[in-house]
Amino acid sequence: MKAMAIANFGSPEVFVKTEVDKPTPRNNEVLVKVYATSVNPADCGMRQGSFGPRVKLPAILGFDVSGVVEAVGENVKDFQVGDEVYYAIAHEEGGGANAEYHVANESTIAKKPRNISHLKAASVPVAGGTAWAALITRANIKVGETVLIHGGAGGVGTFAIQIAKAAGAYVYTTCGGYDTDFVKSIGADRAIDYRNEDFINIIMQETGGQGVDVTFTTVSGDILAKSLVVTKAEGRAVTVTGVEGDLNIAIFKNITVYFTHLDQTRPKLDALRTLIERGQIKPVVSKTFSLHQVAQAHKTFEEGGEGVRGKIVVQVV
Ligand SMILES: NC(=O)c1ccc[n+]([C@@H]2O[C@H](COP(=O)([O-])OP(=O)(O)OC[C@H]3O[C@@H](n4cnc5c(N)ncnc54)[C@H](OP(=O)(O)O)[C@@H]3O)[C@@H](O)[C@H]2O)c1
Repeated sequence: MKAMAIANFGSPEVFVKTEVDKPTPRNNEVLVKVYATSVNPADCGMRQGSFGPRVKLPAILGFDVSGVVEAVGENVKDFQVGDEVYYAIAHEEGGGANAEYHVANESTIAKKPRNISHLKAASVPVAGGTAWAALITRANIKVGETVLIHGGAGGVGTFAIQIAKAAGAYVYTTCGGYDTDFVKSIGADRAIDYRNEDFINIIMQETGGQGVDVTFTTVSGDILAKSLVVTKAEGRAVTVTGVEGDLNIAIFKNITVYFTHLDQTRPKLDALRTLIERGQIKPVVSKTFSLHQVAQAHKTFEEGGEGVRGKIVVQVV
């Protein structure tokens, strides 16, 4: 089968076309013909070599999959040939979606939302699953609560805004000034330009000095530490990125701080599918590249900024 692999770590130019054996499903595994995948920060980190020795070269990267089941192992119960499925490849497996086929354990995959294309579906598992894990599994947001989502125009952020709205929250979000109208169009109540405005001043002023119930940090650096200033006493703060700075204010304010890593499971994907099929979540794909253009997809993703909203997807078929 055709694949795009990396033979060395480094810049996006390390991708090379390759031919590898088509995998065979065993026991509880399914063989999925990959229609589309997407670019996530973890793909770029792996490509750069920042995941250490667990990535063995040559490596096929890519965590998100939307595709069709082509064969099933003898113990598979819930899926059959022809099913449209979507999933995130288990992180410990190190990716592998930049290829025509992938083999997955049936416990990690779910039926794809019927009302969206494979291109849109491939944008959901990692980013949507991460937003779900942060806001629902960890922060357990409630109707009427106020939530601050950093990076609202990004992959995780666009899902987080829509999940928070579906859960009945009032949503503050930070984004580039060029994206304020966009984040409002997907449900944000208040958009703050992170390049030109101070989210701490704005939120403290607009909440009468109280702050918000929940903060969600999708941007590395000292954003979590700063967010604790605007998290209410007894509130919750969730981060999915590494952090810098002093978190001790959380002690005095009795804030619960969650560090979350995606554990992709079928119930999370089933819940996201329900919201997508109801139209409460609309995956945002701003750019599409072919499998052979995956280097360009990585480059565009890493440049970010104006014009890169939601997800960048890679069409495999
Ligand atoms: N723990 C996990 O399991 C897990 C899973 C998935 C992702 N993550 C992490 O989550 C983070 C976000 O991932 P992603 O896929 O959403 O990335 P992404 O698509 O690149 O989105 C990041 C967004 O943050 C914005 N941004 C940059 N600096 C900002 C700042 N100072 N304040 C507010 N917004 C800012 C960017 O806007 P501009 O481009 O306009 O600057 C961009 O829209 C990454 O660090 C990733 O590693 C963790």
